[in-house]
Amino acid sequence: MSLNFGRGGGTAEVTIDREKCSQCGLCVQVCKGNPLYFEAGEVQVDQSRLFGCIGCGQCMCVCPTGAIQIRGRDLSPEDLLSFQTLPAAADYDGLYGLAVRRRSVRDFDGRAVERDLIEKILKAASTAPMGLPPSEVGVLVLDGRERVAAFRDSLTAFLRKIHFMFQMPSLALMRPFMGRDDYQMMKAFVGPALEIYIQGASRGEDWFFYNAPLAMLFYANSLADSADASIAATYAMLAGQSLGLGSCFLGFPGMICQYDQATRKKFNLPGNYRGGLMVIFGYPRFKYQRGLVRRFGRVDWQRGEAL
Ligand SMILES: Cc1cc2nc3c(=O)[nH]c(=O)nc-3n(C[C@H](O)[C@H](O)[C@H](O)COP(=O)(O)O)c2cc1C
Repeated sequence: MSLNFGRGGGTAEVTIDREKCSQCGLCVQVCKGNPLYFEAGEVQVDQSRLFGCIGCGQCMCVCPTGAIQIRGRDLSPEDLLSFQTLPAAADYDGLYGLAVRRRSVRDFDGRAVERDLIEKILKAASTAPMGLPPSEVGVLVLDGRERVAAFRDSLTAFLRKIHFMFQMPSLALMRPFMGRDDYQMMKAFVGPALEIYIQGASRGEDWFFYNAPLAMLFYANSLADSADASIAATYAMLAGQSLGLGSCFLGFPGMICQYDQATRKKFNLPGNYRGGLMVIFGYPRFKYQRGLVRRFGRVDWQRGEAL
């Protein structure tokens, strides 16, 4: 059944140039959608199989002769990139070296982030995988300290109205409807953090966005998993790092926007907004001299014969 929703409703159109097709079958093997199949020695297209063509583009990327073309669901043959014209890929050491040098940066020197760097961050982040193509992730770019501050002030105005809910006695009243961990999180982290944002703002301090000169909110809508937005935000963070910028994820703004209609309206966030992850960027004020070892909370590595 075709996916008749979202930006890329319906199936994408598949065209096969029979002259060019060598019947190698690679397109069929990578097609999981799965309108492509092999019959009578030829690649066949049947859009009624499973979801039909979802426009993932894998067939166009794998085809050795350029015989297959996809149009629709925000994809076209013009989107193909030749590896010959692309920069060399980072190897493991390059990627690890970049990642291990990253720290959450919350102190920035006064410089603005240049427009071409912002565009490079967006370009790299747009390559992130998404649950279902085409991406439904949206990005709000707050370019410049004034824009970031306006967003912060809007969120702070909302927090002033609702922060009592995260304090006693409201929290105690809600306790029976929360799990123990959620309650502890609210009491020990969310409540105090909101207080710091509000009180800091009254003193002219920015505990929310740390006076960053650039902020990007990567958000999902009701047609996307919020993980899509987080993955794009992670790509953006690494891209920023590769460009000499410091960055920090901010979890609160994206979450607050879910409840703060006024800010959503003011900053043109869509009606079907469903959470997001913010990344602030800027030139770091301090130079870090060392990296850190990090550990996952838990790794269960199962190998060998099944139990
Ligand atoms: C989903 C997420 C949300 C975060 N939200 C905030 C935030 O609101 N404010 C903040 O200062 N740091 C925030 N951080 C940054 C973490 O505090 C930081 O990653 C952590 O302290 C580890 O430090 P490192 O990034 O330097 O390794 C967030 C990180 C993640 C992954």
